[in-house]
Order: sequence, then structure tokens, then C-alpha cells
Amino acid sequence: EKLISFSVLESTNKYAISNIDKLPSGSVVWALEQTGGYGRFKRRWISPKGGLWFSVVFKPRLLRDPNLYTKVISVAVVETLQRIGCPAKIKWPNDIVVSDRKLAGSLTEVIFKGTRIAGIVAGIGLNVNNDLPEELKETGISLKDVIGKEMDVSLLLAILLKKIDALRSRYVMKKKSGYLTRRWKKYLAYREGDVVAVSLNSGMKIKGTILKIASDYMTIMDERGDVHKIRSGEFIS
Ligand code: BTN
Repeated sequence: EKLISFSVLESTNKYAISNIDKLPSGSVVWALEQTGGYGRFKRRWISPKGGLWFSVVFKPRLLRDPNLYTKVISVAVVETLQRIGCPAKIKWPNDIVVSDRKLAGSLTEVIFKGTRIAGIVAGIGLNVNNDLPEELKETGISLKDVIGKEMDVSLLLAILLKKIDALRSRYVMKKKSGYLTRRWKKYLAYREGDVVAVSLNSGMKIKGTILKIASDYMTIMDERGDVHKIRSGEFIS
């Protein structure tokens, strides 16, 4: 395994993608600060010093389901945080929240070179000791404000990497993904049967009961009994 660290980088995902052919499987790109961090839907991800911003490169011989890597990341982050006294949960599809405020997010990108898959880049952003900008103070949170003290980011990275590797080797390679999915479901902030309000990227809002949560979609039945299949929507409450 290879750890490449930077004090400042535009984006660890971007770096990993640009250098994908040179990076062996398991490589980790870590930056103390990102100037152009991004999240899902190309949204800006504010990444000042004090947070944990890194990406892991995976090059499986056979790619079965990229969502499994997202689950590995989410389960690793939640279990690591819970161990240090932070009651984190997974907000579908891939946010990590504490009482509905976003603590961390992950972004898994499958990198193609022509028709060949060159690798998978899984980026994780975790607010640790950094203060959030004014516009994110209501919806986001930092670990220091949950546990009441600062944490050493490099220690947190080490624990997370160990956990990610253990989960990956146990569940992703050996075709035991059912266990991983069960563990992932256990940590969901909203589960099947819960009533939620969801706003989609199209601007449409749906309120209803969750029928099913899968890795890449969920179904919601609204008050009229119509069932909506949601692929990349987001919860608002
Ligand atoms: C999201 O919630 O939309 C995902 C956020 C992912 C942010 C991380 S920080 C490290 C890596 N580098 C990036 O530019 N993004 C990811």
C-alpha cells in the first residue's frame, strides 16, 4: 500500500484520477487542505485545514458492483466514529450524519479508459477539527463539536484505512457482500417504513413512506399510494 500526502491539493479524487495508471490498488491520496474539493453532482466541497480529505484507489481484478465500495467506506466511517463516541449514521445514499447534520460525505468514481475500467476512486471528506462556513452551520457539523474535543486527523486516517481494508478484503473480494449490505442497513438514519420528505434534483418534492432502500435506488410511496423510484434524490428532512 502506498500513502501519498500533500499539504495542499486541488482535490484528492482529481489527483487519483489523473494518476490512476501509476497508482497501485490500495493507494491512498491524502491532503491537509483542498482548494477545489468536490462532491456529488460536482458540488463544491469546502476542505480547509483540520478536516480529513482523502481518496482510496481500488483496482479489483473483477469489478462486480461499484456500490460495494461506497458501502465499505460508509460502514468503515460509521463504525470508526461510533467507536470514538460519535453516534454517526448513514443518510442514504452516502452521507454520514449526526442528528441529521452532515459530518462526512463520500464520492465513488469509476474511472474508464476507453471501454476498460482503469480503477475506482473513493473519496472521503470528514469534518474533524475544522469550523464550518456560515452557510453550512445549520446543515453540517464537525466531529470536534460532537465529541467535545479535537482529534488527530492522521490517527483517524490510520484507523479508517485499517477498517476499510478489513471490510474490503472480507466482503468485497470474497463474494460475501450480503453481510456488508446488512451492516450498512443497520446504520441507516432512515429505514424502510419511515416517513420522509425527499427533494429531487429536478426540484420535485415527495413525501411518503420508504418501501425499499437499495444501494443505488430507493422506493417511496406517497400519500396517494403512488410509488416513486428514486435514484439520485436527496433528503431534505
Ligand atoms: C458528497 O457529499 O457529495 C461527497 C463529498 C466528498 C468529498 C471528498 S474530500 C476528499 C475527496 N476529494 C474530493 O474532491 N472529494 C472527495
